[in-house]
Amino acid sequence: MKQFTSVHDVQDVAALVNEALQLKQTPLAHKALGQDKTLGLIFMNPSLRTRLSTQKAGMNLGMNVMVMNLDKEGWALETQDGVVMNGTTVEHIREAAAVMGQYCDIIGIRSFPKLQDREEDYSEDLLNKFIKLAGVPVVSLESATRHPLQSLADLVTIKEQAAAGKRPKVVLTWAPHVKAIPHCVANSFAEWMQQADVDLVITNPEGYDLADKFTKGSQVLHNQDEALKGADFVYVKNWSSYEEYGKVLTDGEGWMMTNEKLALTNNAKVMHCLPVRRGLELSQEILDGPNSLVIEQANNRTYAAQAVLKRMLERIA
Ligand code: CP
Repeated sequence: MKQFTSVHDVQDVAALVNEALQLKQTPLAHKALGQDKTLGLIFMNPSLRTRLSTQKAGMNLGMNVMVMNLDKEGWALETQDGVVMNGTTVEHIREAAAVMGQYCDIIGIRSFPKLQDREEDYSEDLLNKFIKLAGVPVVSLESATRHPLQSLADLVTIKEQAAAGKRPKVVLTWAPHVKAIPHCVANSFAEWMQQADVDLVITNPEGYDLADKFTKGSQVLHNQDEALKGADFVYVKNWSSYEEYGKVLTDGEGWMMTNEKLALTNNAKVMHCLPVRRGLELSQEILDGPNSLVIEQANNRTYAAQAVLKRMLERIA
């Protein structure tokens, strides 16, 4: 695998999920594969799970791992070509990415959208430039429009928890939030579920439909109760408006997932990528109850990342 930025970089999604589940059983079985190889994890934004799980995945494979909070610890980065750098930026991505590629065999990078300019965010300019300039395999640790390592872990969790012999109904439901949140997790989840053996239904208030590019082929309902009927898995996530780009259009009263809403489902397992705002996005009773999968979902982040890194190491070995 040369790069991992979306489900479209994966030839056989089911095989990658199975590989992650196998690695969960024997996480240290391939410790020799990454010996003397270096993984660099570059963060332009905060992280708990992605940072620690990807670091652990690299260590499980015997890699040396370096982590840098580039936004705080690096020079102010210029990403536009052809500019005279007489302002606040100090280092151009042309040099920064190429230099990091000298030190690392694989690089992971996280860079959130600014949620100001839809065209700019959806062009994935920074990620694409980084891939072009680094000269080594690049893993997205969440980009402007997608979070593929999260989605792979989500699919691993669903495969692990689904009842045998039944194609599960999976509902992605919008949830309330106090600030504008990117579309990455929701976009990515929709894309990955469309490649999986599940029936996906997306539910969100009017004005919050995701981009067609990500939801095409999936049912989108603006009535949450209708969508939740018979669900086997409910994936809870807030996102800001795509149509009125980056805006919060409603306080979302009545959209928080509660035990009352859970009663509409097929005793659904409830998922969230975390961090979660308790009592706002998702009720405390669900998070602390038997239907919550959020901790196991976070645990599976390690094995999802390990499956991806293993594929990359096999290619460069
Ligand atoms: N789910 C997730 O990506 O968590 P972090 O932002 O803490 O990495």
